[in-house]
Amino acid sequence: MSTDSAESGLSLHHITVRFGGLLALDDVSLRVPPGRVVGIIGPNGAGKTTLFNVVSGFVTPQSGAMTLDGKPFRARPHQLIRHGLARTLQGVGQFDGMTVLDNVQVGPRSENDAWAALERCGIAEHARQFPKTLPYAKRKRVELARALAARPRILMLDEPAGGLDTDEIRWLADLIRESECTVLLVEHHMELVMSVCDEILVLDFGKPIALGAPAEIRSNDKVAEAYLGAAA
Ligand SMILES: Nc1ncnc2c1ncn2[C@@H]1O[C@H](COP(=O)(O)OP(=O)(O)OP(=O)(O)O)[C@@H](O)[C@H]1O
Ligand SMILES: [Mg+2]
Repeated sequence: MSTDSAESGLSLHHITVRFGGLLALDDVSLRVPPGRVVGIIGPNGAGKTTLFNVVSGFVTPQSGAMTLDGKPFRARPHQLIRHGLARTLQGVGQFDGMTVLDNVQVGPRSENDAWAALERCGIAEHARQFPKTLPYAKRKRVELARALAARPRILMLDEPAGGLDTDEIRWLADLIRESECTVLLVEHHMELVMSVCDEILVLDFGKPIALGAPAEIRSNDKVAEAYLGAAA
């Protein structure tokens, strides 16, 4: 097991993001210790993807700071892998003009790592095909393989279960559980979140409304209200 001192891992401190008049993240703090699976949930528009965009340097917060292993951290998107972070995009974000292998190998990944990631995601047989020719579930696996090929310390997954059936979600759950790295998981599929996460942060209109183990989150009234409000 990895060390778990108060300094190790990724920490967000009082992150606030505004888009014009919209408060997308409102004073969000989160600690992501090494080896842990941390979920981020909340209704549509709660700020989950924005939080990923802050960590990966696509969005600069108006206030707040991040640390990685206790040191100030501000990644630029192209430096993410150098810092040991990799993310998947919500939906599928592949280059259609490139083969699956080339998509997975994009950036500073070695061919060996790319093949290993394809094998691990069960799509090595599709390496020479173009992503567009594959069914959606397979394209989601390409997205995963692309992130895994970077051999990240911290794997950030934005709705990896979106559009997947029960069997695919079960496969995904095993992959997350068996991954040796830290995982940050944004997901709407509650069963998946509850079954793989050690800890869950709940956002509602950018505000952190709960943080705790799955059992605590499941029985939290504020969380239930946020989801009921969103469904209404
Ligand atoms: N670049 C941007 N410019 C302006 N507004 C933005 C931008 N990115 C996100 N937003 C707004 O910020 C809020 C949070 O969006 P975000 O995409 O983070 O939500 P989310 O929790 O990921 O939602 P979903 O579950 O639908 O993916 C939304 O109201 C969204 O419209
Ligand atoms: Mg999102």
